Amino acid sequence: MFSSAINKSKAWKKLESHAKSMRNVLMKDLFAKDDKRAEKFSLSLNDTLFLDYSKNRITDKTMSYLLELARSRHLDEKIKAMFRGDKINVTEKRAVLHIALRNRDNHPIMVNGKDVMPEINAVLKKMRQFSEDVRFGRFTGYTGKKLTNIVNIGIGGSDLGPFMATEALRKYWMKGIQCYFISNIDGTACAEVLNKVDPETTLFIVASKTFTTIETITNAKTCRKWLVDALGEPAVSKHFVALSTNAEEVAKFGIDTKNMFEFWDFVGGRYSMWSAIGLSLAIAIGMDNFEKMLEGAYAMDKHFAETDFEHNIPVIMALIGIWYNNFMGIHRYCVIPYDQYLKFLPAYLQQLDMESNGKSVDLSGDFIKYATGPALFGGAGTDVQHSFFQLIHQGTEIVPCDFIVPAISHNEMGNHHEILLANVLAQGEALMKGKTVKEAAEELKAAGKNPEEVEFLKKFKSFSGNRPSNTFILKKVDPYTLGALVAAYEHKVFVQGIIWNIDSFDQMGVELGKKLTLGILPQLQNENIELNHDCSTNALIKLVKYLRK
Ligand code: F6P
Repeated sequence: MFSSAINKSKAWKKLESHAKSMRNVLMKDLFAKDDKRAEKFSLSLNDTLFLDYSKNRITDKTMSYLLELARSRHLDEKIKAMFRGDKINVTEKRAVLHIALRNRDNHPIMVNGKDVMPEINAVLKKMRQFSEDVRFGRFTGYTGKKLTNIVNIGIGGSDLGPFMATEALRKYWMKGIQCYFISNIDGTACAEVLNKVDPETTLFIVASKTFTTIETITNAKTCRKWLVDALGEPAVSKHFVALSTNAEEVAKFGIDTKNMFEFWDFVGGRYSMWSAIGLSLAIAIGMDNFEKMLEGAYAMDKHFAETDFEHNIPVIMALIGIWYNNFMGIHRYCVIPYDQYLKFLPAYLQQLDMESNGKSVDLSGDFIKYATGPALFGGAGTDVQHSFFQLIHQGTEIVPCDFIVPAISHNEMGNHHEILLANVLAQGEALMKGKTVKEAAEELKAAGKNPEEVEFLKKFKSFSGNRPSNTFILKKVDPYTLGALVAAYEHKVFVQGIIWNIDSFDQMGVELGKKLTLGILPQLQNENIELNHDCSTNALIKLVKYLRK
């Protein structure tokens, strides 16, 4: 076991004192001194994904100290351990093998002495068969009609991956197929979808790793009743399939396990869109495209496992995040895809990052005394420029941004895409350069303002600048590039977890709320159960009951 006192290590201390010396360094000065800065601080994968990280508050020294920190955490050994199938999810004693799901060269990966690849390949084959049967009308609904409405019922990792990716790859959908997603327990989520679809043409995909999640099981039961009311019990096997690791619960729910697509406990929920959890996506875009997405992820996996850290996209993304989070006191970041199809990417990445690294106990079981996972938010550009970008440009909080934009759009629509590209490039430049008070005053003067107005307005019109961003240019949002991009974020999160010495693959933080929900539910339903909470919660329960009478 490596030392958990990482914030006492030599590499950490070096970065702490270096951060002090960097406090007043301006990025625009660094750019002025070095016209090779952009070239030096940028990386690419196969001409499909390009990362410019030069607009960060870093120097060569910063990067070399960060790399030293990574090495001091034995990152190379940890990467090998994950790819080998070691049980690196130590609290749950599980291997972490989302990389096996896209292991396109099919080399054996062993868990408990057994190669997992034959089973993975068998499920991919079953997905291909089934998705093609649905797409081409060979597997029909109970009354013989083609299944054209695909409804994924799942939550968290059993929703966000396929939800994000089906939207991202909407351009690849088969004509006539519509995808819907029900996740929230709020009955509205179910009602709104059921109002749109016809039982005879609807396939429900119940996606749940555990098959015990209250939201998913409740939504699935409601949909099942809706279907049975319309078409009768025998219709269930033609309209319901399950994606799960838990055959027993699937059978208990009333779905024939013949209609189940399996995955395994070495696939974490938030890392599962590459598995059977991607079935709705596979039906929408076809298995060939689904496999192209796996290939993109595989290309990033190989890059991550085989590239020296200096040129390794996920490693560099992770180290820059660590720099702000642990040495510059900035505990948040923002992801802004400038692509309408990627609009759900920030929501997807929120689970990936915050459920993985929102931890405060290290691998030795001790409370941690340094910052771990940052808060992440985001939204689609240019929409968010007109909402929260005020704070990003002029607020007192610094928010490092990841800008993501395709060079080629699926819908160029005259000059829309060029305007979009100009916007994203302008944001990065504006954040980095800013505008001094003097520059603002000169601009005001030139605009004809009188001296009092210039004096009053000049600070309002100034921008401190020196605000960091990464820019990802994708060639195009296609299955391959999406796979590579998502895998890059997955590995970034992994690297940060290694540096923070935490288990990035459990999610015990969601349990307490779930347990209390089960206690409150009967109290809401039954007058005679004593309320045993704090006075706030007791009063809220009483108020809700009163309002519902
Ligand atoms: O929110 C906790 C969580 O366990 C997530 O990690 C997971 O993705 C989600 O619930 C759904 O779980 P399941 O797939 O088992 O229904």
